[in-house]
Amino acid sequence: MAKFTLHHGDCLPFLQSLESGSVEAIVTDPPYGINIVNRWGAAKFGYRQYQDDGEWDKQRPDPEIFVQMLRLSKTLIVWGGNYFTDYLPPSGHWLVWDKGQRDFSLADGELAWSSLSKAVRIISYPRALAIKENGKHPTQKPLAVMKWCIAQIGEYPKTILDPFMGSGSTGVACMQMGIDFIGCEISKKYYSIATKRISDAASQEVMFKQNTPNNRLHPDVGDSPAQGSLFTLEAGSAAGKSPKPAPRR
Ligand SMILES: C[S@@+](CC[C@H](N)C(=O)[O-])C[C@H]1O[C@@H](n2cnc3c(N)ncnc32)[C@H](O)[C@@H]1O
Repeated sequence: MAKFTLHHGDCLPFLQSLESGSVEAIVTDPPYGINIVNRWGAAKFGYRQYQDDGEWDKQRPDPEIFVQMLRLSKTLIVWGGNYFTDYLPPSGHWLVWDKGQRDFSLADGELAWSSLSKAVRIISYPRALAIKENGKHPTQKPLAVMKWCIAQIGEYPKTILDPFMGSGSTGVACMQMGIDFIGCEISKKYYSIATKRISDAASQEVMFKQNTPNNRLHPDVGDSPAQGSLFTLEAGSAAGKSPKPAPRR
């Protein structure tokens, strides 16, 4: 059964606390810094339904977060990578989500930068299906797209980290694929949504595998002394499975 550990707080100090090379894979979708919720077109296509002021997308993340991600893992997939080409090294293996519409007022697709040594790969997944599945976060990624991009890594990693988890789509994909997950989210609202989605996905996987009631998932939710006041809640349990913390100096 896949395990999960979710942190509420700024991912930068969390990433800085981990030992170099200790994360098997990072799959993430940082804020693009384009004020997506308030852009022309966005309201028209329903982004305002999320009752989200869009503050989180008014600027790109601190570049130090990218330095940390590259320090922690050799395997990285970064959605919206086209907004971070000055933070990331050149790559020949971009992943493309083709949304199936051409020359529409919204983008034909989305791009993910990756550190993998492969050719460019494309998934076609219609915008209409993505909209139907959405409703939790203005930039929610479809599960089919997340599972596809994780499968591009090749042999499934044991653990994946998403420092910008939003509504938890990477985590739900991991639960469904049997991969342990570590997530971080700064917004209380999206942290709560992600916690529910990922716990539900983990429970469903347990039920699907017809575990006995004694084996059912009972995530601990409470203060995490290890994270002090920085991360107020930690859900799930990945005891012995998390990347090693950096040694104290
Ligand atoms: C593009 S959204 C991710 C959406 C996600 N892919 C989904 O399917 O729901 C980026 C998220 O990063 C969060 N965020 C922004 N800065 C952060 C930080 N420093 N640490 C942790 N989370 C952060 C935002 O609140 C936002 O929910």
